[in-house]
Amino acid sequence: MSALPWWKTAVVYQIYPRSFADANGDGVGEIEGVRQHLDHLSWLGVDAIWLSPIFRSPMRDFGYDVADYCDIDPVFGTLADVDALIADAHGRGIRVLLDWVPAHTSSDHPWFVESRSSRLSPKRDWYVWRDPDSDGTVPNNWQRPWPRGGAAWTFDEATGQYWLHSFLPDQPDLNWENPDVVRAMHETLRFWLDRGVDGFRADVVHNIGKDPALKDAPAAAAHVPHCALNHDPRTIDHLRGIRSLLDAYPGERMMVGEVFLMDTSKIPPYYADGEGLHLAFNFPPMFLPWKSESWRGCLEQVQAEFDAIDAWPTWVLSNHDWPRHRTRLGNEPRARAAAMLLLTVRGTPFLYMGEELGLEDAVVPPERAVDPGGRDGCRAPMPWTTSRGHGWPDPAWLPFPPKAGARSVEAEREDPGSMLHLYRRLLQLRRESSALRGGALALLDDVPPGVLAYRRTTPDDERLVAINFEEHEVATASLTGLVEMSTDGRGEGAPFVGRLGADQAVVLRP
Ligand code: GLC
Repeated sequence: MSALPWWKTAVVYQIYPRSFADANGDGVGEIEGVRQHLDHLSWLGVDAIWLSPIFRSPMRDFGYDVADYCDIDPVFGTLADVDALIADAHGRGIRVLLDWVPAHTSSDHPWFVESRSSRLSPKRDWYVWRDPDSDGTVPNNWQRPWPRGGAAWTFDEATGQYWLHSFLPDQPDLNWENPDVVRAMHETLRFWLDRGVDGFRADVVHNIGKDPALKDAPAAAAHVPHCALNHDPRTIDHLRGIRSLLDAYPGERMMVGEVFLMDTSKIPPYYADGEGLHLAFNFPPMFLPWKSESWRGCLEQVQAEFDAIDAWPTWVLSNHDWPRHRTRLGNEPRARAAAMLLLTVRGTPFLYMGEELGLEDAVVPPERAVDPGGRDGCRAPMPWTTSRGHGWPDPAWLPFPPKAGARSVEAEREDPGSMLHLYRRLLQLRRESSALRGGALALLDDVPPGVLAYRRTTPDDERLVAINFEEHEVATASLTGLVEMSTDGRGEGAPFVGRLGADQAVVLRP
């Protein structure tokens, strides 16, 4: 197998910096906390980290509302802290991706303050301003996702026009139709590339290109937030420009785009035949029922639509926006099987901090809720120790997930049967197996209902993965091999017995 670029074989680990580790004891995690815990990430065996936004921000959307793309919010530290993190991570062979938010800024960004100041402002056109509709109301029917839906427009009394905000009113959409905006945003990428970052996760990147006609959403989709509908060819052109910029740097800099569209077939175009995104998140699988036929259909679709145009798929089960998969799936055996699936299918897997501990969402009482989008539960702090506070001051900015002591890094490192050790072993297995890292995937037909099985192959390596989605034992006589790994540890090192236990998944080698 010819050498694949690093981003095709890497396992990327998402860090939500507020909740990863707190080095200065203020109850909120920061960059220095990440640096001090690189040991955990090296031990686990991840290849790259992606930090959710660390730029200056009034934090109305916890950093996804940027007021300065080229400085660090004091909550998270300083530019020197990022330099130190990049240097130390690179010293351990871990790449660093930053979260770049190109579709909107904060309303506190000097660009928007200037834009809002007057219709004649030289930056007026950096954002999307429109006159009221003929009946005096919002220019179109676009909705925002939160708080609780509502129009994606807010009226500015002083200048008599509405501004577009696909998210909160405090997050005005940038107008990428204006070449000055494109230039300014390219500069922000260069700033970080020059500082040595390996690439970016681009926030809602499918939302940068828009048809200036801003037509109404079709009636049937009028209730869907516009940020989940926008799909415009102008975005692909912008991505081509960004790709050339990245490619001009040495060292395989990359971009993974958040393309939040609920139709897998719409994702591959964002790769633009190798001239657009290097990788795009494919979110529909995150919302699939835990059923073998659903996952089989999903793998078939990805094979048909991604492989056909040589677009390398990504896989993700959890992130900072949705309930964790341990919570969604309802029990640990299933979460273990899901981890084996995530880390053995063809494509680049993204882990969300704490999933390696099997964390569930925290139950956040209303008086401690802080996120306007109701996403606090999956953003709860990482428990590091078994002791009170789990490595955080009391109280940390959000409450801990359930069973934080037993699911802390300290406790799970001590227990070879823990979820943490399962993830570590899976990552090690991927590193050692070229078939799992980059091989072809062939779904097996001769398996009973409720079981998903696939073979991963390169010319000189092969693995077979079988996952039982049922809560009872299933006979799988057609599958043979040596059990290399099993999600419940049973049978490892011995020939496969032809039966999968309830919720069990295995990796077999010939
Ligand atoms: C993305 C982020 C989410 C944020 C939104 C607006 O979906 O993942 O956290 O609120 O974009 O930037």
